[in-house]
Amino acid sequence: MPRNISTPSIEYIRSLYAHQDDLLVSISEELEKRNMAIHVGAEEGRLLQFLIALHGAKNIVEIGTLAGYSTIWMVRALPEDGHIYTINKDPAHVKMAEGFFAQCERRGHITQLAGDAHDVLPALSDKAPFDMIFIDADKISYSDYLDWAEQNIRKGGLIIADNTLLGGLAMETSPPENYAPTTWKNMRLFNERLADKSKYNATMIPTKEGLSVAIKLF
Ligand code: SAH
Ligand code: DHB
Ligand code: MG
Repeated sequence: MPRNISTPSIEYIRSLYAHQDDLLVSISEELEKRNMAIHVGAEEGRLLQFLIALHGAKNIVEIGTLAGYSTIWMVRALPEDGHIYTINKDPAHVKMAEGFFAQCERRGHITQLAGDAHDVLPALSDKAPFDMIFIDADKISYSDYLDWAEQNIRKGGLIIADNTLLGGLAMETSPPENYAPTTWKNMRLFNERLADKSKYNATMIPTKEGLSVAIKLF
């Protein structure tokens, strides 16, 4: 489902705060053309930047690069000594993102890691602890990625995850038809884990897809 939904309110927010330069526009257009426009909206890219600034995050892991749209928003909020590692499974997506990163003025602060996050994350532990993780990949695996984040994001670090409303079906209390039962079960588990107040100071920003934000307290 396309994420760059446009309403008068969202257009107003974008016009004030979330201007897209030529590079961001060209990524968006390319994804539209390929019928793959599932990237975050510009206003969400801006929100990620705001959270990075608020938190002073320097070292970020992103799971799910697609064409690098969210990565480019985030890298532009990082300080000079900041870096983002972004993990991308699909080889065609990796290639597309590579082309766009080459055009980004902050490309020296981006490392794209090709492969399934389950295989790539263990080696990234060498560079831990990280300040922030943005999870936006296969919905069935969010709880696995939280296992890694619990070990590799610093105390006080940020855990952010997109699509945690699971297309408006996360609140169903029995498996919905549109998703594999395991995907639904695992996303609910992820949300319940973040809602544990002894471990996280967290909430979900009620975007259409749901954007979970959590401070790791341990
Ligand atoms: N964050 C991007 C959108 C990501 S779409 C943006 O807002 O611009 C989801 C991406 O996750 C796709 O590129 C897909 O290839 C990738 N992906 C899916 N499963 C994955 C996995 N197991 N490991 C790593 N990447 C995965
Ligand atoms: C899908 C994935 C996303 O990350 C998203 O924001 C919207 C849709 C999808 O796989 O359909
Ligand atoms: Mg998403």
